[in-house]
Amino acid sequence: MNPFGSVKDRAAWEMLRDLEARGEVGNGRGIVEPTSGNTGISLAAMARARGYHARAVVPNKVPLEKKVLLKIAGADLVVVNDALCPAPGLGEGSINLAKTYAKAQADKYTMPNQYENEQNVRAHERTTGPEIWRQTEGAITHLFVSLGTCGTVTGTGGFLKRKNPAIKVVAVQPTEGHDVPGLRNVSQLAVSRLFDRSLIDDTLEIDFKLAYTRAIELGQTEGLLAGPSSGLIFEGARRIIERDRDGLGVMIFPDNIFKYTSNMMKHIPGLATGNEP
Ligand SMILES: Cc1ncc(COP(=O)(O)O)c(C=O)c1O
Repeated sequence: MNPFGSVKDRAAWEMLRDLEARGEVGNGRGIVEPTSGNTGISLAAMARARGYHARAVVPNKVPLEKKVLLKIAGADLVVVNDALCPAPGLGEGSINLAKTYAKAQADKYTMPNQYENEQNVRAHERTTGPEIWRQTEGAITHLFVSLGTCGTVTGTGGFLKRKNPAIKVVAVQPTEGHDVPGLRNVSQLAVSRLFDRSLIDDTLEIDFKLAYTRAIELGQTEGLLAGPSSGLIFEGARRIIERDRDGLGVMIFPDNIFKYTSNMMKHIPGLATGNEP
């Protein structure tokens, strides 16, 4: 129920409010952010509603729907030839390009920088963690998440473990070379400044194609039109249930499937056809 369609609304709102409080936006200064789509859509929508301009720098593998949505939300869009999960420090990648804009045109752009901004973690300590604790009445035993910037896992997992250190945090990650926007493979996690390894009890690395298969299943069996990272988390939870048979698990489904139809067509054969007999 996040207004701009993903869990990243929370991080975007927290970062934007912090920039406002510190006088970093306004008076002609807007924002520039590297994004695989969701944070950019949230940031652009909120920034424009509050009177600031927004620029999103995205890797070219981001689905077409997200690029169009970024523009609908009011961002100007810079597409770069970069991996789907941009790594800081890598040549001409989207993170570096956004940093260049923020540096070279400092009067025009400030960069929230979801990869390093503590407000990204804070958003989930303030909202996602307490919501889960309240809604499960403290009975949660397992939290299933996937990792991108790691704001969700560090904020939510940290909050819940402070409430009950016995809660298990399970990270579900796609295999290398994946095509799941928003996520990092385990080998890339070291570059996430917000990653706190001590919070993770289990890490599962799962064939990324299952993200798409399980997302379809969620739609066709549960009426939940969840996105591919949700599909991956669902698969991870199913595996852990085989091992830990008792408990109350919570899966965070970061977004819905509407902006992945082109990716779904790529990974699930037969979706693009019609006129079925
Ligand atoms: C669809 C999707 N799933 C998962 C994540 C990972 O969340 P986090 O960046 O908080 O680790 C993101 C982040 O952009 C995302 O867009």
